Amino acid sequence: MYRAAFPVAALAVASLIATGCRTPSAPAPSPEGPADAGPAGPVTFTRHVAPIVFEHCATCHRPGGSGPFTLLSYDDAARRARQIAEVTTSGFMPPWLPEPGFGEFVGERRLTDTQIATLAAWAESGAAEGNASDLPEPPAATDGWALGEPDLTVSLPAPYTLPADGPDVFRNLVMPLPVGETRWVRTVELRPGNPQFVHHAIMAVDDTTSSRRREAEETEQPAQPGFSGMEMGLAFMPDGHLMGWTPGMAPNPGIDGLAWRLDPGTDFVLQLHMLPSGRPEIIAPVAGFHFADAPPSGPPLYLIRLDADHLLDIPPGDAAFVVSDAVRLPIDVEVHAVYPHAHYLAKSMEGRATLPDGTERWLIRIDDWDFNWQDVYRVREPYVLPAGTTLSMRFSYDNSAANPRNPNDPPRRVRAGNRSSDEMAHLQLQVRPRREADLVLLRESLYRDAIRRNPANPWSYYELGNALLEQDRLDEAARQYLAGLAADPTHVPSRNSLGAVRERQGRLDEAAVEFQAGVRLDPGFADGHFNLGSVRLAQGRLEDAADHLRETLALEPAHAAAHTNLGHALRELGRLDEAVTHHREALRLRPGSAEAHNNLGSVLAVSGLLGEAIDHFQRALRIQPDHLQARRNLELAREIVAELERAGLR
Ligand code: HEC
Repeated sequence: MYRAAFPVAALAVASLIATGCRTPSAPAPSPEGPADAGPAGPVTFTRHVAPIVFEHCATCHRPGGSGPFTLLSYDDAARRARQIAEVTTSGFMPPWLPEPGFGEFVGERRLTDTQIATLAAWAESGAAEGNASDLPEPPAATDGWALGEPDLTVSLPAPYTLPADGPDVFRNLVMPLPVGETRWVRTVELRPGNPQFVHHAIMAVDDTTSSRRREAEETEQPAQPGFSGMEMGLAFMPDGHLMGWTPGMAPNPGIDGLAWRLDPGTDFVLQLHMLPSGRPEIIAPVAGFHFADAPPSGPPLYLIRLDADHLLDIPPGDAAFVVSDAVRLPIDVEVHAVYPHAHYLAKSMEGRATLPDGTERWLIRIDDWDFNWQDVYRVREPYVLPAGTTLSMRFSYDNSAANPRNPNDPPRRVRAGNRSSDEMAHLQLQVRPRREADLVLLRESLYRDAIRRNPANPWSYYELGNALLEQDRLDEAARQYLAGLAADPTHVPSRNSLGAVRERQGRLDEAAVEFQAGVRLDPGFADGHFNLGSVRLAQGRLEDAADHLRETLALEPAHAAAHTNLGHALRELGRLDEAVTHHREALRLRPGSAEAHNNLGSVLAVSGLLGEAIDHFQRALRIQPDHLQARRNLELAREIVAELERAGLR
């Protein structure tokens, strides 16, 4: 089945908090921080300032950190005492976008009013050093892996060189993941290279070869790793996961029982957003993979996306352009993270949940959005939103010349798009349904909402069709794919899925017509060739089947199902040696599959290699004792051996 391109644009996840209150009448007190009314006696670095700076600033203002200077010694701090007072009073530092009191998130960076007052009093009173004996232990160097030694690290064969100047760079770096068998990934910790120039990163995977091909098509000289742009094509974040990196973030340790599947042949695709510094900079990212012992259990994570992109058409000069969106939850969900996303013109962002009893709960509120400090906000304590809750978002944009972040001078009309000069309006919630079986109902409901919101988007019909197909509602699914094709006749995924429905309905000729139209529109679409090859196999058109399955493997060499079906086609064509080769490859790619053992065993048996065949039937049955075909094949193979022995032929 065609994989929806996950439109990974930039990252951030979040959480929420207070109920009922809309605007706090007074600045909400920060949860942590000393309650003393301020230092008595002279304010000194060693006694009063160092504890604040070491804890709240040195994560970034240290050697190798993202900050432009270190803040580890008295000299470092005293030299900038006034500036420190200014940036903390204004709220610019430490950088943290969500407003306090509107959601509680992991790794919040915020000073208490007392701490801010202390820094100001220190600058005001001449920035005294104080007694050396008062100085707290400086923060430990954090150059290693925060989550411990990874199970697998990947890096580029040669680093990327960030040009000295020019606009922001969005670069997608493609790294093959050397795993020989399926692994379960609990989390990925990123060391992005130099955090002074890497402003944020998005991590995705690609199990097609599309990212590699994008890289190969890049023509710039001298050649550099990766390809440019915010658009990541078929690379996607594993189902329901939000994998981002920002300077100074608390690394995500992952959630027990929610590892994601990593199959051999998958590439890691890392999108770095970088800011040229005036000199060429060497960027050498390293990603550390942490594997889980077991596959996920229980309900999976899912991303709900509120989206007002289709409403974005911001006139030049408009300082308060507002868009909103809302969806209703058909099931109970547990909220794990909040990820608002827009580009440079966004000003404020509000995300709210209105519960069935009318109670309002804030998901997140940002009053002064800054693209450069976007993040994925993980909620401190996951909470449940009951079925019947309405989720809503309201974003405002400032496209006036007075907005210092406006990328256009003079301002121009701005619409939705993937370039950094375009805009976006997304609020994603990472949720977990109470029961796994509920997820398909959530998807069905969300895509019905999406179609109401924007009937012109073929992807919504496609996704709704997929949710219906999963519920075996074939005719309804086909209607949605047809509606998607009415919106956009060149929408290959809809064409392909319509073919899949027709195939399941036994209408093979119609299925073939759809698949064929799909590969004509996109000859580089491996699964399209696979589907066409497979339906040709079912039709008994074996040579044609073999051609398309070979084409699949040329595009995607690790496509296990294509090896399997090509093995079947070659066996029917009497080319047994080649058939064995492909079934062996399928088994290598899916070592725990009873099916793959049975397939290999049966082509070996037909080739006369009965001993090895019996071994594979037995292994199939060890993996899946109720595999009827393997049992029958095993019995048959044993009978033949016995017969041959009786005849003295063995
Ligand atoms: C999450 C990382 C991070 C943390 C935490 C952080 N900073 Fe920064 N700081 C930066 C970065 C990056 C810059 C450069 C920002 C820019 O130029 O836009 C910066 C810039 C500054 C500047 C210069 C501002 C200017 O206008 O040039 C000062 C002063 C500063 N930080 C002080 C602090 C203090 C004091 C703290 C702690 C209370 C702190 N920072 C915490 C990353 C951080």
